[in-house]
Amino acid sequence: MTVYLVGAGPGDPELLTLRGAALLRGADVVIHDRLIAHELLTWAPPGAEVIDVGKTPGLPRRQHDINELLVAHGKTGRQVVRLKGGDPFVFGRGGEEALALRAAGVEYQVVPGVSAAFAAPAAAGIPVTHRGMSTSVTVVTGHTGDPSAPGGVNWDALGRAGGTLVVLMGMGERATIAAELVGSGRLGTTPVAVVYWGTTDRQRVVRTTLDSLANVDFPAPSTIVIGPVAALDV
Ligand SMILES: C[S@@+](CC[C@H](N)C(=O)[O-])C[C@H]1O[C@@H](n2cnc3c(N)ncnc32)[C@H](O)[C@@H]1O
Repeated sequence: MTVYLVGAGPGDPELLTLRGAALLRGADVVIHDRLIAHELLTWAPPGAEVIDVGKTPGLPRRQHDINELLVAHGKTGRQVVRLKGGDPFVFGRGGEEALALRAAGVEYQVVPGVSAAFAAPAAAGIPVTHRGMSTSVTVVTGHTGDPSAPGGVNWDALGRAGGTLVVLMGMGERATIAAELVGSGRLGTTPVAVVYWGTTDRQRVVRTTLDSLANVDFPAPSTIVIGPVAALDV
């Protein structure tokens, strides 16, 4: 049997793909993240086993343990749906899960999802590219780390490259990110939008500038959009 790594979309349950919904309806086991629409879990058959592996702050569950859980359930021969927020391969560690399944000889398929990186701005009226304003968009993690380490974020290069920046997981480091970008030459008046729980009925949007980003105190999940398009509301 196959383990399906399914993107649950950004929050609105209707943004799950048709394929994801069909797989969920036939699931024997659902292993899900914290940031998914919990309504989706009611779509699984009544007898399905539902396991929450959400990495709740303060209750860390290691990725290694999640990989082992997937492998163990994958080997039982039941239909396993691994439901992940947004798209499984956009800052979702879905690649690691796929590699662990492959290493264990367990078949898997990836079912792409609608990523919050694009859905949250869109739901706030922000086209991440817009003719005459932005010809590129970069999706970047706000878990900045050491810029010289492998996987570290080079904010200076991103700042100089121009275009739209979409920052996921960036609220904790928002002051540093804004300072780094201004240091790289972006104007402090550059428009910024912060979208909390985009696509859901809890959605909130604040429009500000790089200079004032530090004053926006939305909790997770929030997406930061930086660049001229962030001023749009279309
Ligand atoms: C670990 S990343 C996972 C991203 C996911 N794989 C995707 O493609 O959307 C989680 C981050 O995505 C962003 N995010 C997820 N859902 C969101 C939503 N509905 N509205 C705004 N941002 C969201 C937040 O920055 C959050 O901290």
